[in-house]
This record gives sequence, C-alpha cells and structure tokens, in this order.
Amino acid sequence: MYKNKDNRRDFLKKSGLLSLGIAGAGISGCAGQQKKQGEEDQPFQQAHNQVFNMHGYAAPKLDVVRVAVIGLGNRGSGTVRRLAPIEGVEIKALCDLEPERVTKAIESIKDFGHKPDSYSGNENDWKKICERQDIDLIAIVTPWHLHTPMCLYAMENDKHAYTELPAATTVDECWQLVETSERTRKHCVQMSSNCHGGIQAVVLNMVRKGFFGDIIHAEGAYIHDLLMRYIFSKTMYHNLWRLKENTGKDGNLYPQHGLVPIIQMLDINYGDKMDYMASVSSDDFIMGKTVKELAAEDDFWAPFVDKKFRGNINTSIIRTNKGRTIMIQHDVTSPRPDVRFSMISGTEGIYVSHPGRIAKSHAGWISEEEFNSLVEEFTPEINKRFSELVDQAMQVERRGRSYDRTSPTDWRLIDCLRNGLPMDMDVYEAAVSSAVTPLSTWSASNKSMSVEVPDFTSGAWKTNKRGMDINLENGGGTTKLI
Ligand SMILES: NC(=O)c1ccc[n+]([C@@H]2O[C@H](COP(=O)([O-])OP(=O)(O)OC[C@H]3O[C@@H](n4cnc5c(N)ncnc54)[C@H](O)[C@@H]3O)[C@@H](O)[C@H]2O)c1
Repeated sequence: MYKNKDNRRDFLKKSGLLSLGIAGAGISGCAGQQKKQGEEDQPFQQAHNQVFNMHGYAAPKLDVVRVAVIGLGNRGSGTVRRLAPIEGVEIKALCDLEPERVTKAIESIKDFGHKPDSYSGNENDWKKICERQDIDLIAIVTPWHLHTPMCLYAMENDKHAYTELPAATTVDECWQLVETSERTRKHCVQMSSNCHGGIQAVVLNMVRKGFFGDIIHAEGAYIHDLLMRYIFSKTMYHNLWRLKENTGKDGNLYPQHGLVPIIQMLDINYGDKMDYMASVSSDDFIMGKTVKELAAEDDFWAPFVDKKFRGNINTSIIRTNKGRTIMIQHDVTSPRPDVRFSMISGTEGIYVSHPGRIAKSHAGWISEEEFNSLVEEFTPEINKRFSELVDQAMQVERRGRSYDRTSPTDWRLIDCLRNGLPMDMDVYEAAVSSAVTPLSTWSASNKSMSVEVPDFTSGAWKTNKRGMDINLENGGGTTKLI
C-alpha cells in the first residue's frame, strides 16, 4: 500500500540498499520514470531490482545441518520430530515461550541422539539462537505475525530460514524477505503443501510430460473446518492467535496449501508469472453467531462478541502472464470436507481431486484401473526414492499425527543443503504465495477491484530455469532416514 512506501524506505535505509541506489530504480514514480496508464491506481508497487538471483542458487554444501526450532506448539512439536530422524541433522537448540513445551520436545527426540539446548520464558530468547555461531538452519513455527521478523533476523545472522506458512503477512514483508535473502544469500523456504509427494507430484510430472496438453486453468483451496476444535478453542493456539487473525479483515488468509502446488505446475517464477488478481468474500454467517452463543454461556468469549469476523468464503481469481487462470478459495468455518489442490485443466485433459479423477474428453472420467496405471506410470523419482528410504529406515515413525511424520519436503530440504543443490522452493515462491493474502484483502474490500501481483523476481521469471526437481535430474536423494 502507499503507506508501506515509508516502511520500505526505513527498511531500505537500515539495510543500506537505499544509499547504494539499488532499490530506487524499480520504484515507479521516481524521477525520470513515467507511470503507465492505470498504474497510479495500483496499491502495491514494484519496488525492487534484483541484487542476486536466489532461484537456482546452491548454498555451500553442508555435511551436517545444525538446526534450531522456534515455536513448539501443535505444529512445531512435530517439526522437531520430523527433522530428528533425517541423516545429517543435528538439533542444537529449541525455543518456546512455554518451558514445558521445550522440555517435552527435547524428550521426544532423545532416542535419535539429539541433545538440544533449551531457550524459554522470554519473548526475545529466539534472537539468542539466531546469534549463535554453530547453527545453519532456523525452523520458525510460531504464530503468523512472527514469521517475517524471525526469518529476517535469522538470515541477517547468516542462517537459512525455514518458515511455516505464510512466510509474510504484508506485501512489504514479502519484499523484505526477498531483499534480505538476495543480499545475504541465505535461503528462505516456506514449508507448505507442494508437489514433493503424493498425487500432486504425480500430476506435476504429468503436466511436465504434456499429458494434459497446454495448461489453461487450475484450482485449489484451503477448505478445512477449524471452527470449534481450533478457532474457538481456549487452548489450541497460543494466545488465541488464530481467532484474532480471523477478525477485522476479509480475504484469503491461508492460500498456500492450495496455491503452491499450482504455482509449481504452472511454472510461476520460472517461465510464467502472476499478473493480476481479484477477490470476493462472502459475509460472515458463522463466526459472529457462534461467538454470541459461546459468550451467552461463558464470559471468556465476551470480548469477541462485537468483532467483525472474516467473511466465511473467499474466492480469488488470478491471471498469469501466459494467459492461464487460477482460482483459489479459503474457508475455515463451513461444515464441509477438506479441499486443497483440486483441479488442473488443459487442452488435452483434466485432473480433479477428492476423489482423484482424470478425463481426456467430454465422454467422462477414465476408469479407476486406467487412473491407477497412470499414477504408476507418472510417479516421479522423488516419490520412489522417499518411499524406499522410509522402508529402509529403522526408527522413522509413520504412525500417529501427520505433523510428526517426516515429509518428503522436510527430507528434500535437508538433502539439498547436504548435497549443495538449489532449493526446490525458494524465497520468490514464499513471497508470491504470501502476497496473495494482502492482495486478496485489498481487492475484497474494494469491490473486487483487480490488483497487480508484484513480480518478486524482478523480471528473472523470463529466464529462470524450472524449479522443483521431482525427478532428481540434478542429483541428490542420497540423504537417508534413520
Ligand atoms: N504446514 C502445515 O501443514 C501446518 C500445519 C499446522 C500449522 N502450521 C503453521 O504452523 C505455525 C504454528 O501453528 P501452531 O498450530 O503450532 O500454533 P501454536 O499456537 O500451537 O504454536 C505456536 C507456538 O509458538 C510459541 N511462541 C509464540 N511466540 C513466541 C516467541 N516470541 N518465542 C518463542 N515461541 C513463541 C507459542 O508458545 C506456541 O507454542 C502457524 O504458522 C501455522 O499456520 C502449518
């Protein structure tokens, strides 16, 4: 937004980029530059020239990846357990505001031989971890508003950042992540659903091999009923952060799970880019009513009764530079089954999920038998390798909570660092997928006016090579699971 320009200037001043003249050239409206027609109406301006291309960047190889995890709640307690069984990982430090969460997390990984130091009790203790000299990667699993400050501080202190989604909550923060990652040459990887495993990896492989022809359109969502068990739980989230995030604004608060697989299938940031989007939100028919009912029984909820809650269903549409379209939805309160990546449609066929189906013509879906044989044919190398490693592992846990089970993404992140390979998912992907939230909020509150999506690659999308090496063509896949 325009007001963000001041924050940006402060940030650029602090980071020294302004004095080097690096940022100015890209800020529209600067001396010597003419605005294009309609540009003055655009709330989010392009404000950066790339100083170093982090797409395809391979950081110096690390045999041992020394890890710290900040935030040990629902997800973070699992993050510790997911990283602990990966060969070459040494968990050095764990941090949470609540001391018992740290103690419990240390206990949960002692069988793997990790003996991390404990940091707890102070809301700035995490900074001490970033400042240590013996850590390579900081995993950030805290409430949303802390992700960017923590990533920035980690990278400024020479650490790679692994952040839970969303990496950022404002467009300004997205730019800060991009600028800091480029300047420090530290990776900033956002851990969300993607095409590393399962059917999404298979579909990506099919897309790349031309099975669906030219891709025209894709759809995804974060539809997950969090209402009573999560959002209106007194204990599920630290300080009710998720309930608070759902008040005071409309928009798609959590686009990544549905959108990131599509970004990878459409080669966004490496061959195509998002040009513009528009967003519309329904009213809230559920949260306000629910909180009134809860407050009638329990004063705890009274402070929320007069809040304006996010409209229940948000729908956003995005057009890409190559003329393809994406639709994404967000709904965490309606009583309905989950939806994430849900559809990709091309000139020669379509995949639709829940349940997975493929059609090649108007005549209807192919049989289950044909579908299964296509899945077998198009399963990429990364899925095969990961399954073999899981089968060979002695201790790796495949039962219980999904949060505790090492995912192909956790494994691949460490595998790339250990093999000196580029990250499959980089800061540009984190930035563009996170920017969709503030862009949707702006559009939904401006009668769905269309809004340009910033190009976080500063034009490098035209020449960047493909990311997401699902067939391990550039190597790797050598890191074992214990
Ligand atoms: N990728 C996924 O599938 C997935 C699944 C669940 C959650 N998440 C994400 O994980 C993140 C955490 O979600 P959660 O459900 O675990 O929330 P949570 O509230 O259970 O956990 C957050 C933790 O952060 C700690 N914390 C807060 N401020 C801190 C500080 N200053 N220093 C140290 N610790 C601090 C809290 O004490 C708490 O333990 C969110 O971003 C969420 O969106 C991702």
